[in-house]
This record gives sequence, structure tokens and C-alpha cells, in this order.
Amino acid sequence: MLNLIIESSCDETSAALVRDGTTILSNAVASQIPVHRRYGGVVPELASRNHIRDIHKVIQDALNDAGCGLDDIDGFGATAGPGLVGSLIVGIESARTLAMMYNKPFVGLNHLEGHLTAVLIEDGSFPQPTFPYLGIIVSGGHTDLYHVLEVGKYELLGRTRDDAAGEAFDKVAKMLGLSYPGGVEIDALAKKGNPKAIDFPRPMWTRKNLDFSFSGLKTAVLNYLKSNPDFCTEDVCASFQEAVVDVLIMKTITAAKSKHVDDIVFSGGVACNSRLREAAQQRCKEAGFRALFAPVELCTDNAAMLGPIGEYYLSKMPNYFENTPTRAQSNMVLGVNQRTASGSENNHR
Ligand code: KG4
Ligand code: ZN
Repeated sequence: MLNLIIESSCDETSAALVRDGTTILSNAVASQIPVHRRYGGVVPELASRNHIRDIHKVIQDALNDAGCGLDDIDGFGATAGPGLVGSLIVGIESARTLAMMYNKPFVGLNHLEGHLTAVLIEDGSFPQPTFPYLGIIVSGGHTDLYHVLEVGKYELLGRTRDDAAGEAFDKVAKMLGLSYPGGVEIDALAKKGNPKAIDFPRPMWTRKNLDFSFSGLKTAVLNYLKSNPDFCTEDVCASFQEAVVDVLIMKTITAAKSKHVDDIVFSGGVACNSRLREAAQQRCKEAGFRALFAPVELCTDNAAMLGPIGEYYLSKMPNYFENTPTRAQSNMVLGVNQRTASGSENNHR
């Protein structure tokens, strides 16, 4: 199938054409980072309005880049959750309207499931995992560990009890007076700092459970800054980043051991972090696992990452036009309340 997928859950408006779920023909992204930067974070009202402004151009760019017209599309999909509701509506209604006009199926997709399976895209530049694999989503809103049995079938193993890893990066960056989004800035400055300069805590450093916590680490950084007014920004960045990376990798390897998988997949915006990539490759290899990362453009929010699940759900229910957006709300597919969620039963509501 040739599918047109839209992602508009937060501050990126994106449309992609993906063939058979794994081949990207185009992936147009309009980022709103400059709009939100002056506020130090995403302003929901502005995000919705900017999606409305950008959505048509992004769809047109995706079609042009792929050399296709709307007549060529076999199915439409859009992120339906989790995300900012005003932002989601723009993408969902655009995709649903096109599906209705062209009498083609529509499917609402789960953003987290997209991150988790983005690595299944085959562009020849990185290896694909073998099922089952261990997947960690580290983004601005989530830090979740999953046992990925197959597409549509996931077992939630652990998640953050407070802040997401990306949120901690962004908030620490704000404390340091760096611009939004802070993860990239901290990553760059940390390269010039000493990761051992400050002994920040490694929260939830236990193999007894697979949950995370980052709010205490954030407070530890704040306290350090208050008591050391002459702090070295580069050292704070490197030491904070090292603490996050240590915890992420330790928990992930612990989970991989418990599930006897071969491959560990890192996904979400924080998976762009250069220190995480380097340390994960090394430590996973030492522990006998393969650490896999999609390229950075598929780790931060984009529509193409939803290609594999778009194909999966569209081909499973090809005539189900009202494959409702609510099925993709986070609690349904990737369990907020459930520790185990089987996609095939729970997804299509
Ligand atoms: O997946 P994503 O694009 O959006 C969400 O679904 O949240 O992730 C955004 C998060 C932000 O918190 C951003 O600071 C973080 O990913 N991020 C990074 C890096 N690049 C993006 N964090 C650490 N190092 C990076 N290089
Ligand atoms: Zn995301």
C-alpha cells in the first residue's frame, strides 16, 4: 500500500508517503521550534494555530517530493494520541477528510507506537531488529520500556514515575539559561565538559523494578546551581547527561536480560543524544545485546516513523473507514493503567 501519514501531536507538522510500511518516499516536516523558543516550551494554543497554517503545505510537499498525487494514495493515517488535543485535531481531520474525499481507509495512530517501531523502516542505513525486541521510548513526554513481541503486541515493563527524560533535559537546560529544546544544547555543551565533575544521583538505581524517576535529579541540579554560583555549564551538562544515560542504559539492559531478547531499540527524541548512542552501543555489546537506533530524523517527531504501524493497521482493517482516532489514545494501545497491553484486542475501538 502507498499511505499518506500525518503527525501533528506537538510542535512538528509532518506528512510522509510510505510504501508498504517500510519504504519512505517523502517525509516533510515543518518545525515550530522557533515559535515556541521565546516561551521556553510549547504553547498549546500557538501549536494548534501553526499546525493549521502549515498542514496544507506539508502535505503538498510530501506529495511533490514523492512525485505522487492524492489519487495514488491507498490509505490515510494520522497520529490520534497521545498529544495536545488542538494539535492532534488538525492532523486527524486533514487525513480523515482526504480519506473521505478519495473513498479510502483512514486509521488513527498512536504516537508512542510510532516511536517504538520507527526502526522497522528500511532505508538501508541501519539494521532492523529481530522480534521480539526490547524497546525504550525516551522522548519529551515519555520514558517507557516495552517488550515488543510483534507489531501491535507490546508488554509495558516500566516507565517514569514523574518527569520524562526529555523533560528533564529541557528543564535543566532552562535552569542553565539555554534555549528550548534543551536536549540538543546540553548534548553539544556536554562534549566540552567533564562527566565526572559532579556526582549527581542515579535515581531508581535498582534492578528490582524497571521504573524511572527524573524529577529528583532535576532538583539535585537546581540545588547544585544554587550552592555553586560559579558553576561550569559544560561540567553540569556533562555530569547531568551522564546520570541520565547511566540510568537509561542500566534499566534497559536489565529489562533485556529478563526477556531474553537479542536486540535493544532506543527511540524518541532523546535517542538522538550522542552520549547515549555511544555508551549504549558499548555497554549493550558488553552485555551481549545489539543496540539499535534509527537515524536522528526518525527519532524526533515526524510522520514517516508511523509508516510501519500505518501499514499494519490499514491493511488489517482496510474497509473500516471509521477506524477511530480514540483507539490510538495512549491508554488503549500502550497501557497507562495496564502493565500488559495486547494490541490486537485493544486497539480497534
Ligand atoms: O520524540 P520527541 O521529538 O517529541 C516527543 O514526543 O516528546 O522528543 C523531544 C525531546 C525533547 O525533550 C528534546 O530536548 C529531546 O527530545 N532531545 C534530546 C536531543 N535531541 C532531542 N535530548 C537529548 N539529547 C539530544 N541530542
Ligand atoms: Zn515523540
